[in-house]
Amino acid sequence: DDQAPTICGMHLKYVSLVTLAVQNAALSIVMHYSRVSTPPSLAYSTASAVLLNELLKGSISFIIALARVPQVAERPWHRMSFWTIVRELPYPWTSPFWWLCGEILSPDCWKLSIPAILYVVQNSLQFVAVSNLPVASFQVTYQMKILTTAAFSVALLRRKLTPIKWLSLFFLAIGVGIVQIQTAVGDAPVRNVVVGSAHDNAPYHIHVMSPLKGFGAVTAACFTSGLAGVYFEMVLKNSRADLWVRNVQLSLFSIIPALLPVLYSSPSSHISRGFFHDFFRHFGGWAWATVSIQVFGGLITAMVIKYSDNILKGFATSLSIIFSFLASVALFHFRITPSFIIGATTVLCATWMYNQPAGQETLSIPIPINIP
Ligand code: C5P
Repeated sequence: DDQAPTICGMHLKYVSLVTLAVQNAALSIVMHYSRVSTPPSLAYSTASAVLLNELLKGSISFIIALARVPQVAERPWHRMSFWTIVRELPYPWTSPFWWLCGEILSPDCWKLSIPAILYVVQNSLQFVAVSNLPVASFQVTYQMKILTTAAFSVALLRRKLTPIKWLSLFFLAIGVGIVQIQTAVGDAPVRNVVVGSAHDNAPYHIHVMSPLKGFGAVTAACFTSGLAGVYFEMVLKNSRADLWVRNVQLSLFSIIPALLPVLYSSPSSHISRGFFHDFFRHFGGWAWATVSIQVFGGLITAMVIKYSDNILKGFATSLSIIFSFLASVALFHFRITPSFIIGATTVLCATWMYNQPAGQETLSIPIPINIP
C-alpha cells in the first residue's frame, strides 16, 4: 500500500519532491541569516540546534507511527461524537503504545546507528558551511552530494550507471569547480555586512566568512550525506518495517552523538546559569525557524527516499538552487557574476542529464496497434 500513495489526486512522490526543493532553499537562507545576523557573542549554540532537531523529529515520527497502528487507525473516529472521542482518547493508545515501543526496540534497530551518527555529523557540518559561504555558493557546491550518492549507490546497492550518467557526474564536478574558484578568489562577496541588527548592544557588525573552511565543511557533508542516504535506503527497502518506526530509531540513535557536544561545550565565554539556560542561550526566532525547517526537511527527506530514491532527491535539491539564488540576490545582495552563472548552469544541466530515463526504458513503451 506504500508504493504509490496519492494526496488530493497528486502522487505523493512528486508532492514530496517539490516540497523538498522549497524546503532546501528556505533552510539555507534562514540558517545562513540566523548565523550571520548576530555577532559571535550573541550567537545560539549549533549543538543545541542539532539535538533539538533530533528530539522534535523523533517525537513527530513517533506520533505518526502511533496513529498508523491498525488498532488506532481503523477505529471509527469519524462516527464518534466529540465528547466520546475526548472520553475514549486515552484508551485505544495504551496497548499500541507498548506494541510500538517493542517495534522500535526490535533486534535489528542497531542498523540505524550508522546513518544516525552520519546525519548528526552532517547537520553540524552544515552549520559551519552555511556560516562561511554565500548561500548560493553553498547550495551549488552541496550538489556534489549527487556524486557521492551515486558512488555509494554503485558500491552498496550495486546500481549500474550508464555512460551518460557518468558523463553528467563529470560535468557536475566541473560546474561545482567553477563556482568554487570564483567564490574562493573573492569574485563574490565574502564579507556580509549586516546593518541595524535587532540587538541593542550590536547596532551593526561585519560577519567575516572563510570560504576555505566553508568548502571543507561542505565537501565532508557531501560524503556523509551520500553514505547516510544510501545506507538508509538500503535499510528501508530491505525490510518491511514502517518508515516512521525507522525514523524514530534513527532519531533515538542520534541522541547520544548529538548530546555529547552539548555536554562538552563548556560555557567558557559566560557564567553558567544551569543546563537549560545555557542550552537555550540566545535561541531566538531565527534559531527556532532554522530548527523547524530542518525538522520538516528531515521528515520530507525520509518520504522521498521511501517513495522515490536518493538520486531523484538530488534532482529536487538542484531545483532549489534557483529559488535560493534568486532569494540571495534580493536579500543578501549576492552579485551575479558570469562565472557563477556558467558554473550553476553546468550543475543544473548535469543534474537534468543525470535524471534522463535510460534509452531502453523509453523505447520499451508498447505501441498499441489497431487493426480494423
Ligand atoms: O542533504 P541530505 O539530503 O543528505 O540531508 C538529509 C537531511 O535529512 C539530514 O539533515 C538528515 O538529518 C535528515 N534526514 C532525517 N531522516 C531521514 C533521512 C534524512 O531526518 N530518515
